[in-house]
Order: sequence, then C-alpha cells, then structure tokens
Amino acid sequence: SGKFFVGGNWKCNGTKDSITKLVSDLNSAKLETDVDVVVAPPFVYIDQVKNTLSDRIEISGQNSWVGKGGAFTGEISVEQLKDIGAKWVILGHSERRHVIGEDDQFIGKKAAYALSEGLGVIACIGEKLEERESGKTFDVCFQQLKAFADAVSSWDNIVIAYEPVWAIGTGKVATPLQAQEVHVAVRDWLKKNISAEVASKTRIIYGGSVNGGNCAELAKQEDIDGFLVGGASLKGPEFATIVNSVT
Ligand code: 13P
Repeated sequence: SGKFFVGGNWKCNGTKDSITKLVSDLNSAKLETDVDVVVAPPFVYIDQVKNTLSDRIEISGQNSWVGKGGAFTGEISVEQLKDIGAKWVILGHSERRHVIGEDDQFIGKKAAYALSEGLGVIACIGEKLEERESGKTFDVCFQQLKAFADAVSSWDNIVIAYEPVWAIGTGKVATPLQAQEVHVAVRDWLKKNISAEVASKTRIIYGGSVNGGNCAELAKQEDIDGFLVGGASLKGPEFATIVNSVT
C-alpha cells in the first residue's frame, strides 16, 4: 500500500572520499521512477551529499533533538535538518534504543516534534532475539507503535520501519513470511487503534540484512512496502538493485 519506499541508512560510516564515490554511483544508477528513495548520511556529510546528489533522492537525518535547538551540546535540531535540506528523520532506530538508551516516550516526543516542523518520520520498531524466542514479538512492536501513536496527531508523514534487532547487521535476514507476518499485525494494529484509512495508507517497510540477493523475495510480500537498508546502502549499485525490486 502506498508508493514503494527505500531508505539507505548509512549509520556512522563513510569519509568525504567514500561518500563522493557513493554519491557518484547513486547519480549514475538507473532507479525505477515509482519509488520514494531516501538516504540518511551522517550529519557531518549531509551538506556534501545535498550539494552533489541528484534531487531524485531525498535526504534524511539519522536522529534529531526532541525539541527546539539551543543549549544541547552535541545534538542536531529538526530546524537545522530542514535548513540543510533534509526532508526526513529516522527515529527509534534499535541502535538508539538499545545502544544509546532512548526510551519509547522520548522517541515519541521526538517524532511529534519533527512532524510538527514538517519533517517526515521513519519510525522504527522491532523486537530483540530473546523477545522473539519468548513469543513477545507482537507485544514489543505494539508497545513501540503505541508510544508513537500516543505522541503524534497525524500519520500522514510517517513511514513505519519494522527492523527486528536480531536481523540488523547480522546477515540473518527475516524470511519473507516472518516479515510479512509482523507487517500484517502492524497494519491490523493501526486499523484497530488509529483508523482503516491510516492502516491502508501507511507504508510499512522492512529492515535488517536486506541485500541485493534477498530483496526481490521480500518485496513480493503483500504488506512489505519497501526497505530500510544499512550495510548494503553503502554500495551504490546494490542499493539501486534494492530500489528496483519494487513489484
Ligand atoms: P543492515 O541492513 O546493515 O542489517 O541494517 C539495517 C538497519 O538497521 C537499517 O536501519
């Protein structure tokens, strides 16, 4: 449902030189027209990317401050992201939840603030391995979803990224059926808790060890509306293959 959406989350990777090469590979790649394509460079390289990357691809921040900028050492504000040309921000990524310690409420507030200022939000949810193994996958995803839902007043500018933590950076991709099962459950949750319209319109994308070899099978699933790609988004031609897996 909705236009296919593929995001490249570069995380804390790259140098001026490697990013020059990546941008040049992306600029020369042939990308299907019917796909929203977004990349999230490290903050310090956004200006370089914005000035060199084709306008065909939009820019996202990987995080943003929870409110208006000011005396918050080390943070980057939503206003600054907008000023530098970003249209999106990734919030609730598992690395920020579990490595850096952001909680549901804080993430919800960030989402509400970013939306109120006009940025699109790529809202990440996903369970850890032990949670999946103890049958808590849906509970965890719904709780994270609820924290977003409680904080925001509109879903028009939100893309949900289901990223099972055990699949991130591990090479252990979820099977198409495992991903589809959670995407259906998320859509169903939206239908019950928000509205049928939001459930059918909201893109639910999958992230976790997506690559050029496994994207096609995943993309065939009815409720997989795109991807959030980490490692494989650092290689221009492979990222293009993933973008072009739209069915
Ligand atoms: P990998 O594609 O490297 O597993 O990372 C996924 C991810 O976390 C995207 O946000």
